[in-house]
Amino acid sequence: MFCTRKVNDDYTWVGADGRRLAMFEGVYDVPRGISFNSYLLMDGKTVLFDTADVSVCRSFLENVAHGLGGRALDYLVVQHMEPDHAADIRDLLARHPETTVVCSAAARNMLAQFFGPGYEGRVSVVKEGDTLCTGRHTLHFVAAPMVHWPEVLMTYDETDKLLLTADAFGTFGALNGALFADEVNFHRDYLDEARRYYTNIVGKYGTQVQAVLKKAAGLDIQMLLPLHGFVWRQDLGYILGKYDLWSRYEPEQRGVVIAYASVYGGTENAANILACRLREQGVQVEMFDTSVTPASYILAAAFRFSHVVLAAPTYNGGVFVTMENLLHDLTAHGLKGRRAAYIENGSWAPTSARGMQKLLEPLNWETAADTVTLRSALRQGQQEDLERMAAQLAESVKA
Ligand code: FEO
Repeated sequence: MFCTRKVNDDYTWVGADGRRLAMFEGVYDVPRGISFNSYLLMDGKTVLFDTADVSVCRSFLENVAHGLGGRALDYLVVQHMEPDHAADIRDLLARHPETTVVCSAAARNMLAQFFGPGYEGRVSVVKEGDTLCTGRHTLHFVAAPMVHWPEVLMTYDETDKLLLTADAFGTFGALNGALFADEVNFHRDYLDEARRYYTNIVGKYGTQVQAVLKKAAGLDIQMLLPLHGFVWRQDLGYILGKYDLWSRYEPEQRGVVIAYASVYGGTENAANILACRLREQGVQVEMFDTSVTPASYILAAAFRFSHVVLAAPTYNGGVFVTMENLLHDLTAHGLKGRRAAYIENGSWAPTSARGMQKLLEPLNWETAADTVTLRSALRQGQQEDLERMAAQLAESVKA
């Protein structure tokens, strides 16, 4: 049986939703599932853009067969070789010995790495600026290295004015029957997961995303077709604007993320009091317990907001393990331009603020408030320390 949707007269979505994947890429929980998009162009020649994840192989192959309706598959354009899109290439090519694979030189090498030799004679290598005419449609290939791997190509269809964007403009979350972003309340229901997807998957490569956005600005684009999530056919400026902010590491809003680790509640109590004092001054606050919330959510919030407060106990002479993990993640993703404040705790030798600052050194974040040091728990008079921190943060947020 098949489950497909028409994108327009000539393009059909032949991908699949996955809801049984516990951890995408082995790292990111996807409680609302994820879609693996693939698109089929039916023209004088037939073209499939990418395959899908191994977990949805059967549905994907059935969808392709239905979309082709008995026609040969002339081309498979491989825009991205990561296995969430490329795992089904071997099965597809076994069913379609007539198909030529169109991809970048780097993707050709990865094809051999993943699937071994035997495909060389079926590959046509293309590069930035090359075109493929399929009849009515002319496809232009656009290099998009490191969005999200080095081999990535995007494809611009100058006939229908649509851009197939590989991983860019994707989101976590299954499609649930919708295909277009305008069929759901994207801002309310999907923006957080789109941000978490972007920041964790591509967030490190802001410079490369900016380069692609500049190329896109020179094209007349009516639709964006990503490999995860929804097709954009309305209000493209909304998602392009988000990508512009995220890739420049500019916050979407002024406000404070408080991420805390707490073994016995002393640090948590201080974090809660700080949140109250900030709210009283009209500052937007979002809070996370690093022992409960996976780092991917906190990283996404740190991209969203302008300020970050980190509160953690000293542990084995360093920083408590769940906070240390978060800080490594923040550093690995190269999040620039945030202002930070620190709350440290230690029952005999509190040093975690220095430890947190050292871990974050590569990011060059400015400090926005005086550090608050706890010894086990908040002592008499330390409410004022938190009030001062809140006042300094509020001033900085509103500056
Ligand atoms: Fe959706 Fe980089 O793969």
